[in-house]
Amino acid sequence: MPQVSSKEFGKIEGKTVELYTLANDSGAKAEIITLGGTLVSLYMPDKNGKFNDIVLGFDNLEQYLKESPYFGANIGRAANRIAGGRFTLEGKEYQLAVNNGPNALHGGEEGFNMKIWDAEGFTSGDSACLKLTYTSPDGEENYPGEMNVEAVYSLTASNELKIDFKASCDKTTIVNLTHHSYFNLAGHNSGKIYDHSLKIEADQYTPVDENLIPIGELKSVEGTIFDFRKAKRIGEDAEKAAKDYTSGFDHNFVLNKPENQYGLAASVYEPKSGRKMDVYTNQPGLQFYAANFVENLKGKDGAFYNPHCGLCLEPQKFPNAVNTPNFASPVLKPGEVYKHSISYSFSTE
Ligand code: BGC
Repeated sequence: MPQVSSKEFGKIEGKTVELYTLANDSGAKAEIITLGGTLVSLYMPDKNGKFNDIVLGFDNLEQYLKESPYFGANIGRAANRIAGGRFTLEGKEYQLAVNNGPNALHGGEEGFNMKIWDAEGFTSGDSACLKLTYTSPDGEENYPGEMNVEAVYSLTASNELKIDFKASCDKTTIVNLTHHSYFNLAGHNSGKIYDHSLKIEADQYTPVDENLIPIGELKSVEGTIFDFRKAKRIGEDAEKAAKDYTSGFDHNFVLNKPENQYGLAASVYEPKSGRKMDVYTNQPGLQFYAANFVENLKGKDGAFYNPHCGLCLEPQKFPNAVNTPNFASPVLKPGEVYKHSISYSFSTE
């Protein structure tokens, strides 16, 4: 039988942050806190049946509040970069906080990752589930309209961790949610992810300017370091990526599947553990970020995290889509429901 339990993780100004544990029959386990819906640990078996925690994270609330590079968090209202933090909707200009060089990043000074969400644990068939909800007030972080967001986590009997997002609003606004776990399939405390091999279902990517804002063009990956059409060891071009492109891989890929259709986005394999992760989504883009800016962070179990010790595969709309007419629009109108499903599906080979 799947199991769901909860306990206190910490307190912020008297408000309790809970830690929910979702467990399936075969021993896989996901631990999620109500701050940001953050996945703080994920235990999956290796090829010999040994369970390890395969996501980077902290063991205390303090660090999540003060120094987290979005470890395991759900990101919103608008994931990724918006040039100048500016956009225009229905003739009105909005200015978001500029919190990353000249850009707005990941929802602002206090994005959804910094909010305490309401939580309800339950089981459904052979899945252990957690429903998180948050109401973002009109004008929060300068985004227009009140937004109701929901994130339902399900850990299935077949070692799949699913996240189903929904959002609605009462004024025209923008939304682009994603999940920001840093995976290391050898175990969170295993150093660089260079030996992982990665396959991305993308024939094109969105080249960026020096501020990591897409220039608007969709470019073929052919003959570039972004060619992950066949599984490729991440280390193979990582140094080149670090030299040529703002410290390493931090790019959006244009998924081959039809825009709103749910399908495979990427597969990652780690040879020592034999763990494999397939990522599915119904979003058009996938940001591959190789933890370039993680520097000497003290993590769980005495780990120290440094550049390239994890990888994020973040399904989403393309960066700066709100200012780029040929990219799928992140605009959400009253009466519409934004739906975004992600699956991180684990197996061994
Ligand atoms: C972005 C990186 C950013 C990181 C923050 C990623 O989603 O692509 O550029 O530094 O988030 O942790």
